[in-house]
Amino acid sequence: MGKLVIALSKETGAKVPDLLKSYGRHLFGRFLAGYPQFFAGMSDSFSFLKTIDEVVHIEVRKLYPDAELPSFETVEAGPAHLQMTYRSPRCLGDFAEGLMEGCFAHFGENVSLTRVDEAAGRVVRFDLRRH
Ligand code: HEM
Repeated sequence: MGKLVIALSKETGAKVPDLLKSYGRHLFGRFLAGYPQFFAGMSDSFSFLKTIDEVVHIEVRKLYPDAELPSFETVEAGPAHLQMTYRSPRCLGDFAEGLMEGCFAHFGENVSLTRVDEAAGRVVRFDLRRH
């Protein structure tokens, strides 16, 4: 994916982080269409995001033992405030951000996202506040 995105960036002049975010936003829609079982009974983005590490990616691992998955740690900092820490040697925080944005759009929510990158992008601390 990295090679494809870098080639596309050279071709179009679009920045790599922007392409990764767009791809994440698009892919979220494909997840909804392809894996509706993960969204059954989910009424808001934070409820879904909390299931990625302990449900969604666990099921992914069963189907694709070689999948290269990140870890996510979530903390409910308040009723409308979720802190989510991404960890992966692949440094795809921009892709994760796009997926999260796709998720907020799907649930029709207005969520402000701020992030702090650490360890050269291997750790990204997302701070999500729903308005
Ligand atoms: C908003 C929700 C989600 C987020 C933020 C998220 C985040 C990510 C990220 C950032 C990666 C890239 C690998 C890395 O960074 O180490 C990844 C990998 C992956 N995710 Fe998710 N994910 C989400 C939901 C899902 C769902 C719903 C599915 C499937 C139904 C899924 C399936 C996968 C698979 C198969 C890979 C591994 C790809 C490979 O090994 O080539 N994810 N995820």
